[in-house]
Amino acid sequence: MIIPERSRWFPVLILLLVGGLLGLSAPENRSNSQIEVIPQSATPLDGMQAFDQVMQVLTHKRCVNCHPAGDRPRQGEDSHYHNFGVQRGKGNHGVAALTCNTCHQAENNNYAGVPGAPDWSLAPRSMAWEGLSRVEIAQSILDPARNGGRTLAQTVSHLTEHELVLWAWDPGVDANGIPREKPPVSKVDFIKAVRAWAAAGAPIPAK
Ligand code: HEC
Ligand code: HEC
Repeated sequence: MIIPERSRWFPVLILLLVGGLLGLSAPENRSNSQIEVIPQSATPLDGMQAFDQVMQVLTHKRCVNCHPAGDRPRQGEDSHYHNFGVQRGKGNHGVAALTCNTCHQAENNNYAGVPGAPDWSLAPRSMAWEGLSRVEIAQSILDPARNGGRTLAQTVSHLTEHELVLWAWDPGVDANGIPREKPPVSKVDFIKAVRAWAAAGAPIPAK
């Protein structure tokens, strides 16, 4: 009859099931799935892809608000002129009673909505990026006459290590408690892109 047939196959079925479970957790299966992931994330950027990612950050308002064309910093997502009539001042640190560090501390004040990082001040006029194209910004940061006399290696360190740059990924909240927008490329990807761009000889696309 049918019932004895079934019970004869039952132990075989259990063996198959247990075998299947062991197979799933076997180490060689796990490392297979890792191998698939690694080559994708390690694909190196070429010079132009890297340029694109670098420029997505440099043209963002978190950078440009402090690298404006005129003598007034800008604020917020709409880059309006800074409140209280704040001005550049002689050394880019503001004027008389309105120096930047009257209000801006070494870190964000998220109670009052005042952004902060060490030595908060306005980028010098020669480093103004507002209104420039990506190509023009790239030419500016590579030009020692405008970039503060930096070599390419020094510009790479500034872009990947300076606290005013890195602040853009920890921008705090505004005066209304609303988080400021971060640049569209993550900090890790930006740092990789800066290094890849420099390694490729810092190419700039033809206009
Ligand atoms: C709080 C104001 C402030 C913010 C925000 C800021 N910068 Fe600057 N930046 C400065 C100042 C001031 C200098 C001049 C520092 C110096 O020469 O030592 C400067 C200089 C630079 C330089 C070197 C000069 C040059 O033209 O190559 C680079 C590159 C730079 N900034 C990139 C950035 C990027 C990228 C961001 C956004 C992710 C940013 N900065 C955000 C104030 C700011
Ligand atoms: C009287 C206080 C005060 C002084 C002085 C001051 N700031 Fe500000 N600043 C603020 C406050 C408050 C905010 C935040 C406004 C907001 O986002 O709602 C701000 C925001 C900013 C932002 C906007 C950041 C962003 O991306 O949105 C920049 C850039 C800035 N300040 C630069 C400067 C510079 C450079 C100086 C000196 C030349 C300066 N500030 C002097 C109070 C001040």
